[in-house]
Amino acid sequence: MVDRLTVQETRFFRDPDAFRLVADYVLTRPREQLRKRPLEAWSVGCSSGEEPYTLAMVLNECMSQLELQPLFGITGSDISKPAIDKARDGLFNPRKLMGMDEELKTRYFRPAERNTVEIVKSIRERVCFTRLNVLDLDQAPMHGMNIIFCQNLLIYFRRWRRREIVRRLAERLAPGGLLVLGQGELTEWQPPGLQRLPSEHVLAWIKRQTDEE
Ligand SMILES: C[S@@+](CC[C@H](N)C(=O)[O-])C[C@H]1O[C@@H](n2cnc3c(N)ncnc32)[C@H](O)[C@@H]1O
Repeated sequence: MVDRLTVQETRFFRDPDAFRLVADYVLTRPREQLRKRPLEAWSVGCSSGEEPYTLAMVLNECMSQLELQPLFGITGSDISKPAIDKARDGLFNPRKLMGMDEELKTRYFRPAERNTVEIVKSIRERVCFTRLNVLDLDQAPMHGMNIIFCQNLLIYFRRWRRREIVRRLAERLAPGGLLVLGQGELTEWQPPGLQRLPSEHVLAWIKRQTDEE
């Protein structure tokens, strides 16, 4: 029923500007922090996994650019069990890679059974998946997230509900953490405790350190 009512359309690097912003965010964090503490990212409404795997590739590229160990973990959550099962399989139709940089394709995918491609193990083992209704965020165990990425999910909800969800997501961010939504998914409202990033193409905020509130 859930799967009939929801649209699960997604692809790798679907919103390139947003992933560029994530990369800039990581590359400008204090090196010492990245060396010591694992970066935690969460893709909310992750569908069949393309978004969280993209986040893993982006973080991996950043760590390699900074010559650091790939100390990070990604969680993908979605209400749909079939979508989560597919995400865990890590097998994709090559169509989902459309528009991706050729070098990244070669680095992160291998040909697999029945004309599919498979995510390489080093990326796959950094990503875990769980079934979660975004309306039950109060029961979610995630906390202290450095990056929360939630695109093309809030569109299913009315304005007051979107605000409620964003408030709850913000609670799950670590101080200084980054929240990224889809362009136009939240308008005329400033979530408390978050500071809007000045980007024309990406809707994103940083969680203020508590003494700034
Ligand atoms: C259009 S896809 C977006 C996938 C990905 N975030 C992207 O932007 O490419 C929307 C996803 O939201 C999920 N979804 C819809 N309602 C949800 C809910 N109440 N809780 C969690 N996920 C939900 C759907 O199952 C679907 O996988």
